[in-house]
Amino acid sequence: MSSKINLEFNGKEVELPIVEGSEGELAVDVKSLRQQLGLITLDPGYKNTGSCESGITFLDGEKGTLRYRGYEIDELAEKANFLEVAYLLIFGELPTQEQHDAFLIEIKEESYVDEDLKKILESFPKSAHPMGVLSSLTSGLTAFNPSSVDVNADDQIYNAIVRLMGKLPILVSWVYRKRMGLPLKYGDYALGYVENIARMMFRKPNKEYVANPIVDNALTKLLILHADHEQNCSTSTVRIVGSSHAGLFASVAAGISALWGPLHGGANQAVVEMLEDIKNDDGDVQKYIEKAKDKSDPFRLMGFGHRVYKNFDPRARIIKKTAHDVLNDLGVVDPVLDIAKKLEQTALEDEYFVKRKLYPNVDFYSGIIYRAMGIPVEMYTVMFALGRLPGWIAQWREMRKRKEPIGRPRQIYTGEQKRSFVSIDKR
Ligand code: CMC
Repeated sequence: MSSKINLEFNGKEVELPIVEGSEGELAVDVKSLRQQLGLITLDPGYKNTGSCESGITFLDGEKGTLRYRGYEIDELAEKANFLEVAYLLIFGELPTQEQHDAFLIEIKEESYVDEDLKKILESFPKSAHPMGVLSSLTSGLTAFNPSSVDVNADDQIYNAIVRLMGKLPILVSWVYRKRMGLPLKYGDYALGYVENIARMMFRKPNKEYVANPIVDNALTKLLILHADHEQNCSTSTVRIVGSSHAGLFASVAAGISALWGPLHGGANQAVVEMLEDIKNDDGDVQKYIEKAKDKSDPFRLMGFGHRVYKNFDPRARIIKKTAHDVLNDLGVVDPVLDIAKKLEQTALEDEYFVKRKLYPNVDFYSGIIYRAMGIPVEMYTVMFALGRLPGWIAQWREMRKRKEPIGRPRQIYTGEQKRSFVSIDKR
């Protein structure tokens, strides 16, 4: 295989190096293109642009492969706990038992927030969308933890990681509890990471909390499946914000905002709302399939399609099975699950979706599980954020370790050419 590509423009020829990833992915390195030929690359939506080299997550959209640090997602979802996966993503290797326990203890030591954050939370209207509130509170962590923001100090970076892993679940549970009108509480130091999250969220003020292993297991699986997905919209946001040397809390707060949109993490909320609409419309699945195909209608089949997966989303397969198991185990009968299955089957047999390689993505079934757990629909994307946290941290840390330059794309200007100012009385 050739290690370079020749490009000719205006009679001048240049050689650009080919970069090969560890799984054989190829890229042309265009760093010197502008300097040599006066050209930049134009790629709106970055459909064909590699923004960095990364050793964290590998995915092959054609084969439906997803691996964290070399480990298959199916195996991790089956055998690992969430904290092991978080450690793997952030530090590169699965932890030994001692490393795991020490990480958990350090996180537990940071599992509290300044009580003044409650005042900020209380000043939001109860109707505020939880993603906006979570992003604001996460950003607020910077103000309350000024000793974890020096991005050049390894110890401060480590502190920021442990603090965020400890504090974000509290903020998530508080956002949820505020919405549900429940008192704001802290966790139980003795519990595992996910078990503690479930307790912080679901504990009622009037009765003893009894853990439900079905809920804990499903939550673990969902968090693992959402933990990283290479250079998606929110992760790229975290990296690009961090590239200006903004701290971890500020970068992750920006990632939460990026995740909120319905084309990204907000799709899990949009899916269940769409399924509810179909249910209330006499379960007329075909009508919504036609709407999604109609180019004059902005409606899209939510939970369908993916920028990278053009075969199937391996996470969707695991989540579909988990949704079945959880609903069965909890004894929940949800007509929305039947509508989802019918919608999936109809779309997969329809030429429009087949031709465009549109398959259910991770968000198609996840909302149904959250719903069975009793989590309100506006909280689904918050749960996604909780799962994505280790990925954002790992990517931000990698970006710092590799001393990446500030992210600053160029553009092709298409506006007015130079013109003279006309004073207001002459316009
Ligand atoms: N329903 C109907 N048509 C669709 C859909 C859909 N869900 N997704 C893509 N298409 C069509 C699109 O109209 C276009 O058709 P044409 O070639 O005739 O113009 C073609 O498929 C290619 O679509 P695209 O928008 O160019 O593809 P993209 O890679 O830019 O977008 C996507 C990927 C995920 C934003 C898109 O598939 C979508 O909007 N899906 C629905 C929202 C969703 O489920 N998002 C969650 C993504 S997975 C989790 C995450 O990332 O957070």
